Amino acid sequence: MSLPPGFLDELRTRISLTQVVGRKVVWDSRKSNQAKGDMWAPCPFHQEKTASFHVDDRKGFYYCFGCHAKGDAIGFVKDTENVGFMEAVEILAREAGMPMPARDPEAREKADHRTELTKVTEAALAWFRLQLKTAAGGAARDYLTQRGLDEAALDRFEIGYAPAGQNTAFQAMADKGLPPENIVAADIAREPDDGRAPYDAFRDRIIFPIRDGRGRCIGFGGRAMAADAQAKYLNSRETALFDKGRALYNHGPAREAAGKGQPLIVAEGYMDVIALVRAGFEATVAPLGTAITEDQLRLLWRIADEPVIALDGDTAGLRAAMRLIDLALPLLEAGKSLRFALMPDGQDPDDLLRAKGAVAMRKLVEGAQPMVDLLWRRETDGKDFDSPERRAALDRTLRNAIAKIQDPSLRRHYGEAINDLRWQLFKGNRTMPGRGGFRPKTATAPVAATRASALAAGSLSDADLRAALILTTLCHYPGLIDQFEADLERLAPRNPDQTRLAQHVLHTNARDTDSLNAELDSANLTQTLETLSSLGHVRIAPFLRPDGDAEQAALCLAEEFAKLAARRGIDHELTEALEDLETTEEDSHLSWRLNHAIQTRHRADHPEPPETADQGEDRAAMSAHLRDLIDRRAWEKKKR
Ligand code: UTP
Ligand code: MN
Repeated sequence: MSLPPGFLDELRTRISLTQVVGRKVVWDSRKSNQAKGDMWAPCPFHQEKTASFHVDDRKGFYYCFGCHAKGDAIGFVKDTENVGFMEAVEILAREAGMPMPARDPEAREKADHRTELTKVTEAALAWFRLQLKTAAGGAARDYLTQRGLDEAALDRFEIGYAPAGQNTAFQAMADKGLPPENIVAADIAREPDDGRAPYDAFRDRIIFPIRDGRGRCIGFGGRAMAADAQAKYLNSRETALFDKGRALYNHGPAREAAGKGQPLIVAEGYMDVIALVRAGFEATVAPLGTAITEDQLRLLWRIADEPVIALDGDTAGLRAAMRLIDLALPLLEAGKSLRFALMPDGQDPDDLLRAKGAVAMRKLVEGAQPMVDLLWRRETDGKDFDSPERRAALDRTLRNAIAKIQDPSLRRHYGEAINDLRWQLFKGNRTMPGRGGFRPKTATAPVAATRASALAAGSLSDADLRAALILTTLCHYPGLIDQFEADLERLAPRNPDQTRLAQHVLHTNARDTDSLNAELDSANLTQTLETLSSLGHVRIAPFLRPDGDAEQAALCLAEEFAKLAARRGIDHELTEALEDLETTEEDSHLSWRLNHAIQTRHRADHPEPPETADQGEDRAAMSAHLRDLIDRRAWEKKKR
């Protein structure tokens, strides 16, 4: 329907945006100026405590300084009521007391045409259903029974049969007095180019009628009975009624069930929907032989915030999931997302239900993975990130993916989720200087425990002090983050606050102090930073003063990182030496290696000896502890 010129302008002047918005927000009375039509409130489109949402009542526009949502009254109603443009106009017109204009003649005609086509599809559906009950439908009936569909299921899904004849359906519809051009326009029959008589679109196929959200039959899916048929499934072509990209199989009933609290599930095919509905998952839909489209995603999100995509757990299914993620990312809004339930062993939901029952399916649906996990999986599965280059490449891909998200607050949350996953991956994946990639053997618990106890006895707090200086310096000079990114990645502070700060610094896009500070503030990290800054050795660092020198800061960072790296290398050597203790007989050599490692570590911590007695204390304590360990191990080994 199109509106007469001037209608929208008239509508906009008649309504007050403040009034429309006022139903959804609580105005900040201190910041707002009602008389001037200058209104402020916490934004209804994103989570916030401050009032960054601004309404200019005179201009009739709103803008959020936080999430950049903007628009007029119609847009506001569209977004907050989850309705289409025309519906929003209707809502506002009713409110403004403006009668909606009569539909224009062209639109009226189109609607009439569609009504006529629906008469054909409904008549065809009734006829297909009848055919299933005749002798010609015997084989189809047997097949359906063998697939476990009883009478009730056939009725519920209005399953029919299109017989094998050339044009039996066309003839039957024509006999009912339906105009041949409409029978063709509804794609019940197809007209060859050479002017011969129309032939039936579906021959010797089981028929699944497709109804739109309003319950009108808009098209059909047909499953071949013959094993050698050209296509297993054939769907109606696009018609004035049937827009594949905007339709969903079982749309109406699923919407109703989802409204009653059932999880909205998106399956791949007709038989999956039928199997799922029969197993109690009534809010199940499927696209119609095509990949899910943008329009279908929007449809789904009108029904539920987080539809669960049920996919075959094979590579094709995973690939489909990935394509869907790419499609969904730019469309995501706060609260709207997708989850993925991957079926095991290359099964589809129909197979799974048959093999393992509804309980197994429910488990899969409840445990469906959030989109961000799959995104992560796509970029990391089966890949190695044993070099800074590879890690940087991963960061780039993930950053690019996340950049597609339009909603800024959502984008930030995705960034954080990815950071967490990333941190998990990399903290156990440090590359040693002068060595190949090193992966700690996390599975060998005794070794890890030995290492922990051996090292905890040393002065590890030293590493934490270095981390404190590094983090504070980087917060002072965010411009240096890029230069030290790879080092920062390997900085795994033991203190959880420091860890959080390190993660944030590693992944912030801020490159000036003010914006970084603002970010730290909103991430509740200001206190952490202040605590670190107040540590003695940090407080006295000259380059951390207001008039500090960035070059000096960079030098210091390089040095601190080098020391930490050296130390990590030595820790690793210690660990290996301890591991070897399990297997080597040559204890004297081992002791030498351990002592050597400890000395090197000490030098790394204290680059300018002299080795005075008190500095040696730590080393002595360490050696004693280790010697003790070695003795015990040797003794245990002898016992064995
Ligand atoms: P499947 O091949 O997975 O079919 O296609 P299915 O639903 O498991 O069917 P059964 O169990 O073999 O009877 C999934 C969906 O893909 C579309 C159909 O919509 C089907 O439901 N499809 C499949 C086609 O459009 N054409 C085809 O040739 C095959
Ligand atoms: Mn199947």
